[in-house]
Amino acid sequence: MPMIHPLFILLVFLSSSVKTECSLSDADKITQLPGQPQVGFQQFSGYVTVDNNKKERALFYYFVEAEIDPASKPLVLWLNGGPGCSSLGVGAFSENGPFRPNGDILVKNDYSWNSEANVLYLETPAGVGFSYSTDSSTTTMNDEITARDNLVFLKRWFLKFPQYRQRELFITGESYAGHYIPQLAHLMIQSNKKQKIFNLKGIALGNPVLEYATDFNSRAEFFWSHGLISDSTYNIFTSVCNYSRYVSEYYRDSVSSLCSRVMGEVTKETSRFVDKYDVTLDVCISSVFAQSKVISPQQVSRRIDVCLEDETVNYLNRKDVQKALHARLVGVRKWDVCSSILDYEVLNIEIPTISLVGSLVEEGIPVLVYSGDQDSVIPLTGSRTLVCGLAKRLGLNTTVPYRVWFQGQQVGGWTQVYGNILSFATIRGASHEVPFSQPERSLVLFKAFLKGRPLPEMFS
Ligand SMILES: *[C@@H]1O[C@H](CO)[C@@H](O)[C@H](O)[C@H]1NC(C)=O
Ligand SMILES: *[C@@H]1O[C@H](CO)[C@@H](O)[C@H](O)[C@H]1NC(C)=O
Repeated sequence: MPMIHPLFILLVFLSSSVKTECSLSDADKITQLPGQPQVGFQQFSGYVTVDNNKKERALFYYFVEAEIDPASKPLVLWLNGGPGCSSLGVGAFSENGPFRPNGDILVKNDYSWNSEANVLYLETPAGVGFSYSTDSSTTTMNDEITARDNLVFLKRWFLKFPQYRQRELFITGESYAGHYIPQLAHLMIQSNKKQKIFNLKGIALGNPVLEYATDFNSRAEFFWSHGLISDSTYNIFTSVCNYSRYVSEYYRDSVSSLCSRVMGEVTKETSRFVDKYDVTLDVCISSVFAQSKVISPQQVSRRIDVCLEDETVNYLNRKDVQKALHARLVGVRKWDVCSSILDYEVLNIEIPTISLVGSLVEEGIPVLVYSGDQDSVIPLTGSRTLVCGLAKRLGLNTTVPYRVWFQGQQVGGWTQVYGNILSFATIRGASHEVPFSQPERSLVLFKAFLKGRPLPEMFS
């Protein structure tokens, strides 16, 4: 590439900044990702600093505009969980983004969510993926800092993309984003009361952690009913030591001998050769597996060597790819699916967010909780119980009775809606990462969610 004179860049910058209001995003525009097929939509990626003045904490985003007529489509923020897993690597490149890495090239995903929306993938908090913090005083992250940083990120991102500020905004994500999303939405509602900035129209939570005891303790029955554990192990897993107690002890570094014995039995019977994020799958694919592994610690965490080689990890660690993405490695030697440097207050997992979800519903924000029905990490039964309980507490009656929904001529799952505002849906045959394992069904679900319509009742 020929050298470009700095003055030329300055002139281009000056002229473009008076020319259009979108100029701040120009620097973040992706010309072409290595190995990418020709597409008609624009992509952007880069950094937004989220601290005050010092510019030491910066979050990395990847933004894909809608394939057709982006100006008429909503803005969707997607967040993965962990805590510590990347929305770029898991969400965009393995789940619902426009491309999936395959060897040296990117293959088009026919069920990409940018067929329906402009999708913004955020690596959060600082320390995850390409996001970084060089401020040594903020080492430990937690739910509160994450929510605040995410809010600042969005406000400042809108300065780069002012054309999206008034746009209908939805937030979606999965797993530990069951904490991130309600907490961020809550801050947005508060912020809107001072000055209306966010046009928030709904949130969707996939296999989310909403109340950890209910979520985790539904695992025993899920294992047992899927034949992964024996009757006797089910008995001790529900009486002697349940899973929420084990996790709580584990995170406090004080696993009792009782729980250790019970988990030993559970681990032995379920076998490490079954992926807990999809009990019907034979092998794991590490970029999607990593997220459920963070949330669900196993006492025996030997490396599982039947994993496929991870295409996403290879792709995102290429220098030419990082250059095309305007990404930098700060404080890490390589890009990782789930951060190895992030220090997160893990006990935050015990903070219930289901009550925040309730307050959002009371503010008139539609909420969808959806469950891949093969996931044992956050099983559908726990989520269904929590949503049903919330509807009762809020006095919301059933408006769509529990029924199947269709994708094409097949049952895509089951759904129930309360008060036309709080919805629950399962996705049949889907894992913890729904758009990864059931891309077509997940797109039907996503479309209905954006349009505020019940899921298809008849086959088509
Ligand atoms: C799980 O174990 C804890 C601690 O022993 C107990 O308080 C809780 O009620 C148990 N939950 C279930 C669903 O069994
Ligand atoms: C819900 O159903 C109950 C019992 O039929 C009824 O009394 C109540 O008014 C309904 N609530 C709403 C908000 O429609």
